[in-house]
Amino acid sequence: MKMKAVVLQEFGGVENFVDEQWQVTDPRENEVLVRVQAASVNPVDFKTRKGYLGGEPPMVLGVDMAGVVEEVGDQVKDLRSGDEVYGFVDAEGPASNGAYAEYVTVPRSFLAPKPEGFSFPEAAALGMVGPTAYQCLIDKARVRPGESVFIAGGSGAVGSIAIQLARYYEAGPILTTAGSRESIDYLARPLGISQEHIIDYRHRSLTELHEAVIAANHGNPIACAFDFVGGDMKRLCCEVLDFDGRVTTIVEEDDDFRLYTVSGEKSPLLSRSASLHTQLLLARARFGSPPYWDIFAEELATLAKLVQQGHIQAHRILMLEDFSAEAIAEAHTRLEEGHVNGKLVIPVAP
Ligand SMILES: NC(=O)c1ccc[n+]([C@@H]2O[C@H](COP(=O)([O-])OP(=O)(O)OC[C@H]3O[C@@H](n4cnc5c(N)ncnc54)[C@H](OP(=O)(O)O)[C@@H]3O)[C@@H](O)[C@H]2O)c1
Repeated sequence: MKMKAVVLQEFGGVENFVDEQWQVTDPRENEVLVRVQAASVNPVDFKTRKGYLGGEPPMVLGVDMAGVVEEVGDQVKDLRSGDEVYGFVDAEGPASNGAYAEYVTVPRSFLAPKPEGFSFPEAAALGMVGPTAYQCLIDKARVRPGESVFIAGGSGAVGSIAIQLARYYEAGPILTTAGSRESIDYLARPLGISQEHIIDYRHRSLTELHEAVIAANHGNPIACAFDFVGGDMKRLCCEVLDFDGRVTTIVEEDDDFRLYTVSGEKSPLLSRSASLHTQLLLARARFGSPPYWDIFAEELATLAKLVQQGHIQAHRILMLEDFSAEAIAEAHTRLEEGHVNGKLVIPVAP
């Protein structure tokens, strides 16, 4: 069977996307064929498009989606045709193709029932960034009640979920950055961050930002910092840490980026006996085998439960005009420019 897909013909610019017919992959015994209703656009997509993260064009991008189960493999006992699901898709890992397509076939471990109360676009928007934020706060930093948290990039797609998880796990105060009036407003409401905990990073040096973070935490260093931006924000996260603090980063850097981690007095980490964690959601999917994959279904299910209980709100959804190469090209350009407050979502099913 053939389906519509938006295909990246070769690495490079957005002009390399084309609308094409692509083969649908039948599910194997532990796999599920999903009819995609909505997929979201993530920074990893434009990094992949440019050839930074591997793969071999022609290829279909898109790392999360929500949809309806079309068919299940023989070993899948807890999902059936017609169920509404959401999940994480890695075509360079075990998925048949990316989510810019009408169908995707994925191992059962990468799906969970769609959160009750969420639309397909809202669920699609959570499929990648939700588990990412969860793994940062819970699996890596292991935030504890009462611990101060600093999030670089709190208004972003990962950051906004991280804020809500930090609050659910009773960490606080929660401090974060903003680079525009829109971000400040978004952090204040709906995300509920008080004004004195929002650090406007515009026109401030690293030293000034360091002072501002400590001042906003009543003169105290930070227990857990999260780098969802990279570059100087990664440095800032390391600088503001308390003794035995933990910084978790999800952003890769260029080869020439320098961060002193274990080099004596130069290292802000060593002088605080602090830990640096990296977190890459794709890692287990791409480089691990099935025993490593169950964590995705478990965490997607936990997130769905938190949605249902009202602890996690939907992202602000910015729907693309349609499911086409042209609309996806525009979305990539917009996301790459940065500062999108919300999630760009593709209406795969009209
Ligand atoms: N390792 C993983 O598994 C993983 C998973 C998901 C995402 N990521 C990576 O994490 C990053 C964030 O992803 P996302 O989906 O949350 O992106 P996003 O929604 O585009 O958010 C980006 C955030 O960065 C902030 N920002 C932009 N420029 C900044 C600057 N110069 N200084 C401080 N803040 C700045 C933006 O806020 P303002 O507009 O207020 O500046 C926004 O909050 C991306 O690089 C992505 O590739 C990694």
